[in-house]
Amino acid sequence: MSLGILNGTVVTASDRYDADLRIENGRIAAVGKGVAESCDQRLDASGLLVLPGGIDAHTHFALPFGGTVSADDFETGTRAALFGGTTTCIDFAVQAKGQTLRAGIDAWFAKAEGKVCCDFAFHMIMGDVNAQSLDDMQSVMDAGITSFKLFTAYPGVFLSTDGEIFQALQRAERIGALIQMHAENGSVIDVLVKQAIEAGKTAPVHHALTRPSIAEGEATHRAIALAEMAGAPLYIVHMTTAEAADAVAAARARGLRVYGETCPQYLFLSHDNYLEPGFEGAKYVMSPPLRPKPHGERLWRALQADEISVVGTDHCPFRMKDQKVLGRDSFAKIPNGAPGVENRIQLLYHGGVAAKRFDVHRFVDLTATAPAKIFGLFPRKGTVAVGSDADLVLFDPNGSYTISAKTHHMNVDYNPYEGLVVQGKIVKVLARGELVVDGDRWLGRAGRGEFLKCGPFGLA
Ligand code: URP
Ligand code: ZN
Ligand code: ZN
Repeated sequence: MSLGILNGTVVTASDRYDADLRIENGRIAAVGKGVAESCDQRLDASGLLVLPGGIDAHTHFALPFGGTVSADDFETGTRAALFGGTTTCIDFAVQAKGQTLRAGIDAWFAKAEGKVCCDFAFHMIMGDVNAQSLDDMQSVMDAGITSFKLFTAYPGVFLSTDGEIFQALQRAERIGALIQMHAENGSVIDVLVKQAIEAGKTAPVHHALTRPSIAEGEATHRAIALAEMAGAPLYIVHMTTAEAADAVAAARARGLRVYGETCPQYLFLSHDNYLEPGFEGAKYVMSPPLRPKPHGERLWRALQADEISVVGTDHCPFRMKDQKVLGRDSFAKIPNGAPGVENRIQLLYHGGVAAKRFDVHRFVDLTATAPAKIFGLFPRKGTVAVGSDADLVLFDPNGSYTISAKTHHMNVDYNPYEGLVVQGKIVKVLARGELVVDGDRWLGRAGRGEFLKCGPFGLA
């Protein structure tokens, strides 16, 4: 069975040309004029861009947090991802303290089993860095999980000491793994949170006020220094501040293998959202928090200048009606996280390409190609080329789309970008050659997504 995509304009991180595509067995078999004429089925892409499917390198489906579980499971989350033009999600398997890495991986495969609609891979959150877990990193690599997230935040839960982080970095460099860092000074934040609560400051805005930007800047700078001492590459997740962007930019300018990731919420929203009336600010309680607007402008510049390499989402939604309300009496009990997996591609095209901050190739790089390269999925994923998986987004650059919780597919009762009209419209989405989204029609199915083994860092 072959499928042809005719008359579209193929756009990759480096190229733009008019061509037809021939798809066989889920992969791109040929690219060029006339190659699709004899296909069994044909789709007309006249006037549309043919983009590689997006890769969201930062999702949390069914993540236990703060006494509840993130609202999208692997089915609703990956279905929403596909509606939003993301055809691969990299989620985080969690090793809880006292557990083996393998037990964490098994638990996350069990959550995904039979549910996943798009292809997926895992990063590994290391809750314990000790002799056993350091040794076990190799077997995790062998299972195709090649990136490991550590924290300078959440003392007693996930925080690793500088010495532990340094050892993990050394081990990662030896075995070809990549360490990811959640960079906030958790020890200082815990003191500030305690002081705020003792002073009766319990509203959602105090979540942000107890996590100052310098706490992220300091931890980012420290993590980079540890990576430099270990001679290891480093990936900073969900960056939100000018201080962090400056630290990553300086490291990259010195030739260090340091990569930064930010997320749409830090580009489109700001600290002002915490000042929305009543308990509405809880919608934006996430860690790190939203920042005053100048930080967002610095992040946009970092995307333009390739100081930040990837835009993920940190998709971790909690419903207002029965989950965020757990923290009605205290911001410290509001589950941390927000939805985004469905809106990332739309938002980045709108704020990046349509707003003329960068071109469509940079947009493709940030949302698909760079994460595929950094996490060892390229060239199977992240580009449009002969031999690559036929993960494709047919995109109308002249269309528009209104973001709303009334129409989104994420399992959450609000959308942080409610009512925003974005330039550009996702028309069709193909995942390994299968038409899974056609306008607002769902044609995919739970369980069709395949687990992707990531390659070691640095091969692409
Ligand atoms: O608030 C957030 N970011 N929740 C998800 C967990 C994390 O640290 O990425
Ligand atoms: Zn994090
Ligand atoms: Zn996260």
